Amino acid sequence: MPKPILQVIIGSTRPGRVGPSIARWFYDLAVADRSFDVELVDLAEVNLPLFDEPKHPRFKSYEHEHTKDWARTVSRADAFVFVIPEYNHSYNAATKNAIDYLHYEWNYKALGIVSYGGMAMGVRAIQALKPIFMALRLFYCGEVTIPLPSVPVVDGVFSGNDVLNAGAKAILKEIADVAPSLKTIRDAHAS
Ligand SMILES: Cc1cc2nc3c(=O)[nH]c(=O)nc-3n(C[C@H](O)[C@H](O)[C@H](O)COP(=O)(O)O)c2cc1C
Repeated sequence: MPKPILQVIIGSTRPGRVGPSIARWFYDLAVADRSFDVELVDLAEVNLPLFDEPKHPRFKSYEHEHTKDWARTVSRADAFVFVIPEYNHSYNAATKNAIDYLHYEWNYKALGIVSYGGMAMGVRAIQALKPIFMALRLFYCGEVTIPLPSVPVVDGVFSGNDVLNAGAKAILKEIADVAPSLKTIRDAHAS
């Protein structure tokens, strides 16, 4: 049986961001776990414009090639771990924009969130993001919050620590546990 596809999505897009370093840390743990085929998806590379589809994504009647490409990427995944920064007590705009482009492509898939920020550790970003994912019927498998002042990115490398590594592994275990059941639900809806 093929392994579930887990996409680690880098939410931040600005030059000089630390998002890719933190995503790489989670990606390496996910690959080492061996339960998944792991893909790294960088919203800076996906490079979506501000949402510009005339129809609601529920219709899946996409006009633009960038939307069709994004839909193909998200469709093939069984699970996502969003790696997001906290900006102004919330999550960043590029993440919301990328989510809003699609609808059914997100449904009944497993989700984890890795969030980071100052002393608030990205907690407020996660709290703001959770209801959006509930609206899209994603199954929540946990979170890791990272206080950058005490666990920084050094020379482009994020190494985590025992607590963060344990949190990441707990997300991966939960995703591996629920992914087959969620696939059964998606298959039932499709038939
Ligand atoms: C526009 C902006 C707003 C920010 N607001 C917050 C905030 O409200 N809380 C916080 O803990 N950190 C905040 N930060 C700090 C970021 O979490 C930190 O700079 C982090 O590196 C941003 O992620 P990125 O480097 O991947 O873009 C903010 C940073 C930016 C650029």
